[in-house]
Amino acid sequence: MAVQINPSILSADFARLADEARAVEGADWLHVDVMDNHFVPNLTLGVPVVESLARATDTPLDCHLMIEAPDRWAPQYVEAGASSVTFHVEAAAAPVRLAREIRAKGARSSMALKPATPIEPYEDLLPELDMLLIMTVEPGFGGQSFLDIMLPKIRRTRELISKHGLELWLQVDGGVSASTIERCADAGADVFVAGSAVYGASDPAEAVRALRTQAEGASAKASWACDH
Ligand code: DX5
Ligand code: ZN
Repeated sequence: MAVQINPSILSADFARLADEARAVEGADWLHVDVMDNHFVPNLTLGVPVVESLARATDTPLDCHLMIEAPDRWAPQYVEAGASSVTFHVEAAAAPVRLAREIRAKGARSSMALKPATPIEPYEDLLPELDMLLIMTVEPGFGGQSFLDIMLPKIRRTRELISKHGLELWLQVDGGVSASTIERCADAGADVFVAGSAVYGASDPAEAVRALRTQAEGASAKASWACDH
């Protein structure tokens, strides 16, 4: 699978979201962080903003729900126009049912793991998902330092994906930048969320291109990519 770069609008100017979305044209997806001040200690945006953003850009929306009760709320984000919806397994009451519901509504279904949540208990769920998100910071804020201790989990997840022959995308989110993206790609990630590394750059579109070049170079050399 080709490398994908998903700028996170958490680091964009929320008063100019349509312009900020256009500033990263060429990105594969726009990563939209939904936070409810309960699951994480921060509050961002909800369904009405996602609806407006979906109308304002042709780039598909990758909604990362850092909220409690995703079983109740996630389907509304598909209706609002998200093409991919990620719920946190730590918050979901019935992750299999929720993953199926997101797919049935027409979006890609994705599940996220906080840093302290292991992948192994969820091996049998992987076929229900289109993407797995491994958080490489504690969720809640942009601009945090990448957690190197997550690299073994990325590697183990890539091995599980290969073992089961799945078409599952493996996303990393948190502290992904020019200095960390190659390590993520080498470990097995193929979808890269970057907030501050894109919107903190003087030319966000160029930052996306540069991150893509780095990730492609590292994936081409990665041992896991030779399996395909
Ligand atoms: C953090 C969010 C991330 C955030 C990443 O909880 O899920 O998507 O925007 O920001 P950076 O890339 O700056 O770490
Ligand atoms: Zn995110």
